[in-house]
Amino acid sequence: MKNFNILITGGFGLLGQALTNLLNERNFNVIILDKNKPALKRVNLNKKRNRVIIGNFLDKKILLTIFKKYKIKAVFHLGATTQVNEALNFPASSYENNINGTINILETIRVLNKKTIFLFASSDKAYGECKTKYKENNNMKAIFPYDLSKMSSDLICQSYSRIYNLKVGILRCGNLYGRADFNMNRIIPDIMRSVIKNKAIVLRSNGKMKRDYLHADDAANAYFLLMKFMMRNKKKNLKIYNVGSKTNFAVINLVKKVLFYCKKKNYKIIIKNRAKNELNFQKLDFSKIKKELNWSQKISFTDGLRDTISWYFKNKNIIKKL
Ligand SMILES: NC(=O)c1ccc[n+]([C@@H]2O[C@H](COP(=O)([O-])OP(=O)(O)OC[C@H]3O[C@@H](n4cnc5c(N)ncnc54)[C@H](O)[C@@H]3O)[C@@H](O)[C@H]2O)c1
Repeated sequence: MKNFNILITGGFGLLGQALTNLLNERNFNVIILDKNKPALKRVNLNKKRNRVIIGNFLDKKILLTIFKKYKIKAVFHLGATTQVNEALNFPASSYENNINGTINILETIRVLNKKTIFLFASSDKAYGECKTKYKENNNMKAIFPYDLSKMSSDLICQSYSRIYNLKVGILRCGNLYGRADFNMNRIIPDIMRSVIKNKAIVLRSNGKMKRDYLHADDAANAYFLLMKFMMRNKKKNLKIYNVGSKTNFAVINLVKKVLFYCKKKNYKIIIKNRAKNELNFQKLDFSKIKKELNWSQKISFTDGLRDTISWYFKNKNIIKKL
């Protein structure tokens, strides 16, 4: 769309790539800010179509320059420290990246142009442990560092909207999967790397933890619908939605499904049961986004998983090096 410049932080990530590709199809101008220079070579993006800036959103000067130069109309703030183990081992830098990074962007918008739409990638983990499905109005009670960094940022975004009238949209997604996810500590990339390298699959958990699994393209569509809603409804300043999946199962069942579609029988799985920083049960109630934004999950788990697996096999030379 002409004159509608969109900034995506963390555009080289799993969700950032899916969202950039979706926005490209819809003819929006995308500016990507990501600090991971080596990832530029391997990402699944049209590099000529998008302006890519290698930089860090902890650097306030870069943000000011980008917002002024490109007259940013909407920001998808996806960039973050996303690995739960990294956050557990390095809490201070993870809080800084996730919380202060979010504040930096909110501040840039507050100072420069409050009409800029800010879309924040929160997470189901922001709710913390819960025995039943998460609903948007549940109290958030995260305790693990990654989860707490998302909960804190989520609440800070809400505060900026309520106190300074910023236009804020928050999405809390379940576990995402899809093509070109290079976070090899995540379950599907990790299984695929083991299969490609013909090594045993090592599970850090007991395999019983239950999660929602949603394709990144479905999540990207939810972000896009929320941006469109906020563009149309100029008076709505704060909207919060869960983005869940029809598919919710235990990690061990996910492993078995991946192996089944990889055509691997009797594959060796080692259960370490060392993960102490993980929630036992996570399930999102996503009826609100279905009703208000008409969002629905379009990609079945079987189709999404098959596509993802075939992407990893096609790109096995990249994966072998990671
Ligand atoms: N993947 C999931 O299952 C999931 C689920 C719920 C919420 N989320 C949230 O959605 C967002 C996107 O997730 P993802 O899976 O695409 O993450 P990802 O780890 O694949 O990508 C994150 C990107 O952010 C970049 N980044 C990190 N810190 C940066 C900084 N200071 N400056 C510039 N770039 C920086 C990284 O280089 C990376 O490319 C994250 O905020 C994550 O917390 C993800």
